Amino acid sequence: MSSGTTDAPTVYLETFGCQMNELDSELVRGHLRSLGYRFVDDFTTADVVLYNTCSVREQAENKAYTRLGLVGLRKKAGQEVILGVLGCMAERDGADMLKRFPQVDLLCGPGELDRLPALIDNARRTGGAQRAERLALAGDKSRRSSTLAAAADNLELLDLSRAFDPTGPDAHRKSAYVRITRGCNKFCTYCVVPNTRGAEVHRPPGSIVDECRRLVDAGVVEITLLGQTVNHYRYTHGLAVDDAGREQPQVGPGLAGFRAAPAEGVNVTSFARLLERIHEEVPSLQRLRFVTSYPRDFGDDILEVMAACPRICRYIHAPAQSGSNRILKAMNRGYTREEYLAFVDRVFKKLPDCTIAGDIIVGFPTETDAEFEETVSLLRAVPFKNNYIFKYSPRPGTVAIDRFKDDVPNEVKKLRNNLLLNVQSEVSRAAHEQWVGKRVSVLVEELRDHGAREERAAEATERSLENARAKNSAILTHPESKKIQLLWDRRQGSPRTGVQAVGRTAGDLVTAINLTAEQAKLDLQGLIGTVVEVEITNCSPMLLQAQLK
Ligand code: SAH
Ligand code: SF4
Ligand code: F3S
Repeated sequence: MSSGTTDAPTVYLETFGCQMNELDSELVRGHLRSLGYRFVDDFTTADVVLYNTCSVREQAENKAYTRLGLVGLRKKAGQEVILGVLGCMAERDGADMLKRFPQVDLLCGPGELDRLPALIDNARRTGGAQRAERLALAGDKSRRSSTLAAAADNLELLDLSRAFDPTGPDAHRKSAYVRITRGCNKFCTYCVVPNTRGAEVHRPPGSIVDECRRLVDAGVVEITLLGQTVNHYRYTHGLAVDDAGREQPQVGPGLAGFRAAPAEGVNVTSFARLLERIHEEVPSLQRLRFVTSYPRDFGDDILEVMAACPRICRYIHAPAQSGSNRILKAMNRGYTREEYLAFVDRVFKKLPDCTIAGDIIVGFPTETDAEFEETVSLLRAVPFKNNYIFKYSPRPGTVAIDRFKDDVPNEVKKLRNNLLLNVQSEVSRAAHEQWVGKRVSVLVEELRDHGAREERAAEATERSLENARAKNSAILTHPESKKIQLLWDRRQGSPRTGVQAVGRTAGDLVTAINLTAEQAKLDLQGLIGTVVEVEITNCSPMLLQAQLK
């Protein structure tokens, strides 16, 4: 097998999907590196090509299928390469994928990533002939466990074995993810995640705090806690302990267990308490954030901890998915529009400077025009800084695909999607505008030549809006379109040339800091990864403009 200048086998790893997958890929990289593999950027020469895939929408899967085709061509040309599919798609498609894509050598689900090195090793030694040795999938075993302790949790070891080397290849990294909960028990009817990621399992708070501390010691400035529904984190102490007395990950308590007060003498760590512990016990962590929040059962205790702990970012990503009660019910979300709005009210009462973001699905089966309008009005009722808007995609294995016909035509989904993007731009603009004139702190992430990228993005936005208007008479006749302005005042205020430092506020608002000629002479690389104080001078729907203070 060719491996360039050294004997170490080379690996190309590409990641699709959510932050969970990004973290998984990071752990896989650390694990494989410690075993002598070397990572490269070119899939056309790597000895091992891995795709860490996402199944959440058909489009996400199609991207991965295209990649599999390309690696297939390498194989056809007689090159020796091991092709592995990791993540949610491997778990969802299962062994079936091996039939449809014979070029795939191995499949490894997100719950089995600790077994990946053995799979690769096996494929390299035997050419992957043994089918059983090519698969590491959880099937439904994560839901069969009847004990509270998650069955022999090797995956926990993968999280714990994370490389903390301040001189290693990830040393420059200033922002890191830490998992608190795996899997999901919500079973929203459209969603594959409960199938691909398995049952909800909570990691012990001690392990989480320890991981945060070690990351900060290695130079990390910002930590984002990860879970599908982080506010439902709940760890009951003393129930899942190994032979050495160490706490183990534990299966989620279910809704009734979650809502019940702990019995006399039982010690429980709630999400609020977990945040408080990290804030207290890792005092040099500058920013603590979390995603994703579920709009139901988001307690005041969490908001109170956020209000009391200055280094916890006042930012909540809590997807509403729809503004229609009938659709929310069909989605099995477990809350109403009114409850969502009451949740947002509580957030702003306790945290007036909080930013709020979310996700929306348009064209869920049976969604009528009137129900879509309720989503439009929900967007207008909440000062969302942004919403990711998705067209409903029927997913095999979900309840919705069996229960409903995908009866909203794609053209209608597209129209609703475009309309909502326009409405969201206006709402985003208002959410950004309220920061103009204020002083905030920004974590600098990169330097940019001002102009080039902004201009391109602004022009693309304008072009797509104009196209939408030109082609889509339905947009023009929609009552919202009267209110829709040309959205990007890109030429206002800010200088048109020079260097910008770009980063995010604690509320996750992307901020471009325009540096003066004098400032641009300073050590700009040294700014990256630091938190700086700025004054906001201007904004567009997706960007704050600022000056260093
Ligand atoms: N756990 C998070 C969401 C994880 S999936 C939550 O409940 O909020 C990320 C987003 O993908 C979802 O919020 C939803 O908006 C979108 N999504 C999930 N399944 C989808 C589907 N079948 N079609 C379209 N969008 C989908
Ligand atoms: Fe999917 Fe719902 Fe779980 Fe989010 S809460 S991951 S949308 S099932
Ligand atoms: Fe995709 Fe799996 Fe994440 S389906 S969104 S990679 S949990």
